[in-house]
Amino acid sequence: MRKIFAANWKMYKNPENARAFIKDFSSLVLDVNSEIVIFPSAISLEAVCSAVRGSGADIKVGVQNAYFKNEGAFTGENSAEVAKQIGCHYVLIGHSERRSLFSESDSLLAQKVEYVQSLGLIPMLCIGETLTERESQKTKAVLEAQLHGALSKVDRSKALVIAYEPVWAIGTGKVATSEQVAETHTWVREILNSMDLPETAILYGGSVKPDNAADLIKQKHVSGFLVGGASLEPASFAKICHS
Ligand code: PGA
Repeated sequence: MRKIFAANWKMYKNPENARAFIKDFSSLVLDVNSEIVIFPSAISLEAVCSAVRGSGADIKVGVQNAYFKNEGAFTGENSAEVAKQIGCHYVLIGHSERRSLFSESDSLLAQKVEYVQSLGLIPMLCIGETLTERESQKTKAVLEAQLHGALSKVDRSKALVIAYEPVWAIGTGKVATSEQVAETHTWVREILNSMDLPETAILYGGSVKPDNAADLIKQKHVSGFLVGGASLEPASFAKICHS
C-alpha cells in the first residue's frame, strides 16, 4: 500500500503564501512515490487547487471540515460538493480541534463520513485519546468508541483513511514513543479488522517532524502521517514525505 503524507495547515497561510508553498514544495517531491495531501484553510483552498494543477507534482488537496449537505442555509460551513468541484479529493473529519473547540460528536461525524463517501471523496477520520484517558488506561476503549461511533454509517466498498492522533501530542512537541505508536496502531488495526475494514490506512499524527519521521514510519501498521506544524515549511514537509 502506498504511504500517505498529509499536511494539516489549520488556520495558517493566506492564498498568496499557499501558492508560494506549492511552488517551492512541488519541485522537492517530484520523485516521491507516496500519496501527498494538503489540507489548506477553506479560504486558500482554490489557490492551492489551481497551484497544484500547474505544479507537475502529484499532490492531492482536501478540505479541513465539511458539512453533510451539498448546499443550504448553513452559515459558515463548507460544502464538500463544492470542494470536489474545485478539485479536492479528501475531507478531514473529526480533528481533535473540531471535537474539542467546536463540540463535534461521533454521531455528527458519522453523518459526515457517510456524506463524503457518497460524493466519492475520501474521508480522513481523526481519532485519539487525551492524556487523562491514556493515563487511566482507557486509550483502547476510547478509540474503539470513536471508531464505532463515527463509522456507524461507513460504506465498506469506498475509500477511508484513519488518522490516529493522540490529543496530548498535537502541537505540543510531545511525540508518542515508537512503542506507543506501534502498540496503539496495532489496537486500531484490530478494531478495524473486527469492523470488517481491514484495508483501511492508519496514519499517525502528533508532533511529527523531519527528525522523528524515519523512525515512526517503520512502526507496525503506520501507513503515513498527518502533520501540522512541520508541514508549514516546504523543506520540512518534503523531508517527511521522503521518510
Ligand atoms: P502537529 O499537528 O503536527 O502540529 O502536532 C498535527 C495535527 O493537528 O494534525
